[in-house]
Amino acid sequence: MTKRVAVIGAGPSGLAQLRAFQSAAQQGAEIPEVVCFEKQANWGGLWNYTWRTGLDQYGEPVHCSMYRYLWSNGPKEGLEFADYSFEEHFGKQIGSYPPRAVLFDYIEGRVKKAGVRDWIRFSTTVRFVDYDAGTEKFTVTVHDLVQDRMYEEVFDNVIVCSGHFSTPNVPEFPGFTTFNGRVLHAHDFRDAVEFKGKDLLLIGTSYSAEDIGSQCWKYGAKSITVAHRTAPMGFDWPANWQEVPILDHVDTDTAYFRDGSSKKVDAIILCTGYKHHFPFLPDDLRLKTANRLATADLYKGVAWVKNPKLFYIGMQDQWFTFNMFDAQAWWVRDVILGRIAIPADPALLAADVTARVAAEDAGEDAHDAIHYQGDYVKELIAETDYPSFDVDGACEAFFEWKDHKKAGIMTFRDHAYRSVITGTMAPLHHTPWKDALEDSLESYLRN
Ligand SMILES: Cc1cc2nc3c(=O)[nH]c(=O)nc-3n(C[C@H](O)[C@H](O)[C@H](O)COP(=O)(O)OP(=O)(O)OC[C@H]3O[C@@H](n4cnc5c(N)ncnc54)[C@H](O)[C@@H]3O)c2cc1C
Ligand SMILES: NC(=O)c1ccc[n+]([C@@H]2O[C@H](COP(=O)([O-])OP(=O)(O)OC[C@H]3O[C@@H](n4cnc5c(N)ncnc54)[C@H](OP(=O)(O)O)[C@@H]3O)[C@@H](O)[C@H]2O)c1
Repeated sequence: MTKRVAVIGAGPSGLAQLRAFQSAAQQGAEIPEVVCFEKQANWGGLWNYTWRTGLDQYGEPVHCSMYRYLWSNGPKEGLEFADYSFEEHFGKQIGSYPPRAVLFDYIEGRVKKAGVRDWIRFSTTVRFVDYDAGTEKFTVTVHDLVQDRMYEEVFDNVIVCSGHFSTPNVPEFPGFTTFNGRVLHAHDFRDAVEFKGKDLLLIGTSYSAEDIGSQCWKYGAKSITVAHRTAPMGFDWPANWQEVPILDHVDTDTAYFRDGSSKKVDAIILCTGYKHHFPFLPDDLRLKTANRLATADLYKGVAWVKNPKLFYIGMQDQWFTFNMFDAQAWWVRDVILGRIAIPADPALLAADVTARVAAEDAGEDAHDAIHYQGDYVKELIAETDYPSFDVDGACEAFFEWKDHKKAGIMTFRDHAYRSVITGTMAPLHHTPWKDALEDSLESYLRN
């Protein structure tokens, strides 16, 4: 087979794609040449932690949005690989909310076993992708950052796995220019200890606000104030935590909110989400979508409607993560291997997108959203040889997780769930999350 496939990014989505091809080859299939370009020096995507913020040593935007002491915010039983269980990797069952280093180790374990590291060109940023309708090929222009050399290569397919939680959405509020404290986005937050003893203002009400606020509370912030644009999060917060309406303006040291209240604060963290950002793609190939479960313009959630030789993995908002990326990667692989046919009529592709958007919109709450994404995972898995698993069981873990958060926002990580891959129950972690200040792999695995 002389086909060539470019994979952009070696985070969980790109690695799922490499593993999908490698598993077909392992079963005797002839596979294309797969080349993965990764701008960082290592794999793991967001899970590859760095202290750096802003620009890296090459002048590239730092990809990492994770921070020290980050623990999984959902149960690991919802993301477990169906072809590589936690027990296979660690040799035993582990707690349900692993810290970042533990999940990085797990992600890495599967691809080390698959032996696909040689397929990746590290420290290589994709600068541009161009499609030639005459030759029906893509030209990919990349920058080898170590050699400081740019070059082009030609591919039959391109699979974009560059993530969408790295380019921050940064609104401005009046007074920021003259505020005396620090103003930063969640993307640049690295260490809660920096804010010990401080009065903090967070803007936004989603996972970043909830988790960065909780981290800062855990590591000794004096107070947490969270401002909401739409609605408060409404958890039963600790005594030094309050929710207020959206910020109106700040002066040198005080934040003023829309209800007329105010609070003196030391720092402001914008937990205002991220943008789908693909500076390496021209208009006719570039996905423009809101952060939602049914993305715009992707047939089956992965194939670019306007040119289905181009694919995107992991561009949805995420309840399911690693196993959904797998389901997508196996499906894309099978299209490229000629095992699955994409309809030739563009109207059918567009209709698929419209139907998915309508189905998501028909849902009323988070429960429906979890089912919706679970059904999507099931749909893709049914069309490939990805090992089938109890997706409804994984949904149940998410429902329990939501109940546990409602019962105690600072204690939900002290619960354990049953693996839908091996059927075993996770052990309770040895230390309650709020008291576990050490987040190393060694400490977590001591169960
Ligand atoms: C703060 C935070 C915490 C999270 N916590 C959890 C959690 O607890 N559990 C969970 O399941 N999910 C979590 N997520 C969701 C996360 O999106 C997924 O777990 C996962 O990392 C997505 O994988 P990905 O490969 O699609 O994207 P990413 O992990 O973002 O990886 C994309 C890769 O593409 C590379 N890349 C980007 N542009 C280029 C380019 N031009 N050229 C070459 N390479 C490029 C990047 O360097 C990166 O390695 C979290 C997200 C954030 C932001
Ligand atoms: N420990 C962990 O595992 C962890 C920690 C953090 C993040 N994450 C992950 O990171 C991903 C991104 O989460 P996120 O919270 O950063 O983004 P997000 O889910 O997209 O939420 C963005 C938030 O910003 C608010 N917002 C946007 N623009 C605003 C504006 N101009 N003014 C005021 N508010 C504004 C939104 O408010 P509205 O509701 O009003 O639109 C929303 O509350 C998720 O997948 C999450 O799971 C995980």
